Amino acid sequence: MTHITFDYTHAKSFFDENRFQAEASRVHAIHQTLHDRHADVEGYKGWVHLPHTYEREEFTKIKRVANNIQNDSDVLLVIGVGGSYLGARAAIEMLHHNFRDLLCEEARKTPHIIFVGHNMSSTYISQVKDVLQDKDFSINVISKSGTTTEPAIAFRIFKEILIEKYGVKEARRRTYITTDKEKGALRKLAEEEGNETFIIPNDIGGRYSVLTAVGLLPMAVSGIDIDQVMAGAHQAFEELHEASMDNIAYQYAMIRYLLHEEGKTVELLVNYEPNMQSFSKWWQQLFGESEGKNKQGIFPVYATFPTDLHSIGQYIQDGRKDLFETIIQIDESVEQITVPYQEENIDELNYIADKTIHTINEKIVSGATLAHVDGDIPNMAIHVPKLDAYTFGYLVYFFQKACAMSGYLHNVNPFDQPGVEAYKKNMFALLGKPGFEQQKEMLEKRLKEFVPQLVASKMN
Ligand code: PA5
Repeated sequence: MTHITFDYTHAKSFFDENRFQAEASRVHAIHQTLHDRHADVEGYKGWVHLPHTYEREEFTKIKRVANNIQNDSDVLLVIGVGGSYLGARAAIEMLHHNFRDLLCEEARKTPHIIFVGHNMSSTYISQVKDVLQDKDFSINVISKSGTTTEPAIAFRIFKEILIEKYGVKEARRRTYITTDKEKGALRKLAEEEGNETFIIPNDIGGRYSVLTAVGLLPMAVSGIDIDQVMAGAHQAFEELHEASMDNIAYQYAMIRYLLHEEGKTVELLVNYEPNMQSFSKWWQQLFGESEGKNKQGIFPVYATFPTDLHSIGQYIQDGRKDLFETIIQIDESVEQITVPYQEENIDELNYIADKTIHTINEKIVSGATLAHVDGDIPNMAIHVPKLDAYTFGYLVYFFQKACAMSGYLHNVNPFDQPGVEAYKKNMFALLGKPGFEQQKEMLEKRLKEFVPQLVASKMN
């Protein structure tokens, strides 16, 4: 049996099961393309063999540097966006205490991890500056291209603060750069300033890079056992290696594809653990950026139940029927908390007295699943034994494998993201980047037509 299990009992009646086997030869061909290292046409399949082939020397360096940061910093500032931050955040939130940052230093043991560079909110950035004032901190700036605007701006701001606090030499020592081996502004800077660097292999794209230094260094600094992360990923690599319809990653990909063919164009990833929200965001980027192109793809959204049953539950039950659900269900509970018995029973809850919270949660899962299936919402479940570093590594690899298969089933390249460039070009033009003059004029004219007052006030 595989480490995680996949159950699509409650999706079966929504697609033609004959298609499932009929598509097996396509799955087989895609599998060969993914695994054939020589057929690396897109140049982005390094993640497929990574759990087996990862650089052991780099891995040891990650642990050594993480240890140094733990010893000399109260805070690690992780600067990055998209695939250069979501995976690390997913792991850190999923595997640590929900209220980690409120725990005393003795209980927490390792530095706070603060993420910047994924937004351009002056409120957020100035609040990060506030909390850094009396703290020792280091920076891990992560960007494969080394040119992404939002993290580059954040780096400029916080590098200056680091220099003010420690002087140039020590600031350089406290700046850790994760980037391409040869290319980009960050590589150039590291060469000039002599910072410690980590490599993002050039055959691994941003959203497939969490099991490289991109994710592993922040995880290790936070105290996550990265040996366990890689061990879990390795088990997934071995268990999900077969070019067969018994491979659960391919089952998940195929059912998504067949449901999409039946008009189910939105996937809701459901979890029952509040500390899995960042993991859901990581999943959302993985599938959204990999699949949404050529007017194709399933729109990935996520929810935490039962919280969101009381917000979008009504829509799921009775709204448009273009949705299917994938639940991540944790089978083992960490703490056995029970509902206390009360003699007066004013709230009439004695019928569940002595039941564990975990049991109650399981009943909510079953109740919601059956209600949604009755409401024409297909449902798949991914059963996870428990939330630990090993399972995190396994889940990452499972979803990456499923996502690549799913992209190819939809006839798109799951490793590029040409659509992200459109907003960047507009932003460069509107900010006045040299070379974008003509576009600036055009965009400002368009904006003026739509919101004359706003543009007029900004241009004065
Ligand atoms: O998946 C991707 O490739 C993207 O989401 C990138 O990770 C994101 O745009 C950040 O890019 P970079 O690491 O070059 O700054």
